[in-house]
Amino acid sequence: MQIIDGKATAAQIKAEIAEEVQTIVASGGKRPHLAAILVGHDGGSETYVRNKVLACEACGFKSTLLRFEDDITEEELLAEVDKLNQDDDVDGFIVQLPLPRHISEQKVIEAIDYRKDVDGFHPINVGRMAIGLPCYISATPKGILELLKRYQVETSGKKCVVLGRSNIVGKPMAQLMMQKQYGDATVTVCHSHSKDLKKECREADIIIAAIGQPDFVTADMVKEGATVIDVGTTRVPDDSKKSGFRLNGDVKYEEVAPKCAFITPVPGGVGPMTICMLMKNTLSAGKKEFYQ
Ligand code: GUN
Repeated sequence: MQIIDGKATAAQIKAEIAEEVQTIVASGGKRPHLAAILVGHDGGSETYVRNKVLACEACGFKSTLLRFEDDITEEELLAEVDKLNQDDDVDGFIVQLPLPRHISEQKVIEAIDYRKDVDGFHPINVGRMAIGLPCYISATPKGILELLKRYQVETSGKKCVVLGRSNIVGKPMAQLMMQKQYGDATVTVCHSHSKDLKKECREADIIIAAIGQPDFVTADMVKEGATVIDVGTTRVPDDSKKSGFRLNGDVKYEEVAPKCAFITPVPGGVGPMTICMLMKNTLSAGKKEFYQ
């Protein structure tokens, strides 16, 4: 069994990005600039955004954090999005989700100029991804593909089960694993209403768990020699931690790991790769790699 070390891989990729940024700046090019909009004070979102800003520093990017209280109106937020769309210095930006209930997330996502949508959430990027065209690919699925590639996990022709069908992870992951240029696998998507979900999992060479239910995947659901990717990051109360909680994956790691060829831990697996892939997308934005 080999543990896929997302933290080390992410550090290595960030160093690669920083080197490229140095070369770009040394030859007179523009330093990539990522902006982030954070609404309200959700603990998880605060942590994510802080880590995104720190990652920008590590990569040598410029970053701008715009904070608003959770009583900002939808109209005001859309106006802020438009300002970033118009700002020529900003190469890419994100609006951290979730947003307060009175704001339509979909409306906000669609207001972002798709050429600056480094999250890859805009329908134009989602559509281009689905038909295999160059575009921003959302960070979590992109990070998983990168881990599979760097650890030389064979995916072509393999049976891959994706647990979960969210727009951010499950759906794009299934799309990418299916496509010839990425996973080239035979893909099954399972969700809360799937019959025989355990049987589907037992037949899988690769399981990608993204359902947000702690310890959902147990040893009896995993084939000997399978690869298991755990996207779960549920905060579970834990008095032994200073923060009062720990991050719990979707996989019951202790009993599943011994059966696996490869497995990602939580924390330190997929999580660090997600932010790292946002940095990769920002570098692409700075270089105008996909769009003018
Ligand atoms: N909330 C949870 N994950 C993400 C992400 O990848 N991007 C944004 N914008 N919000 C999120």
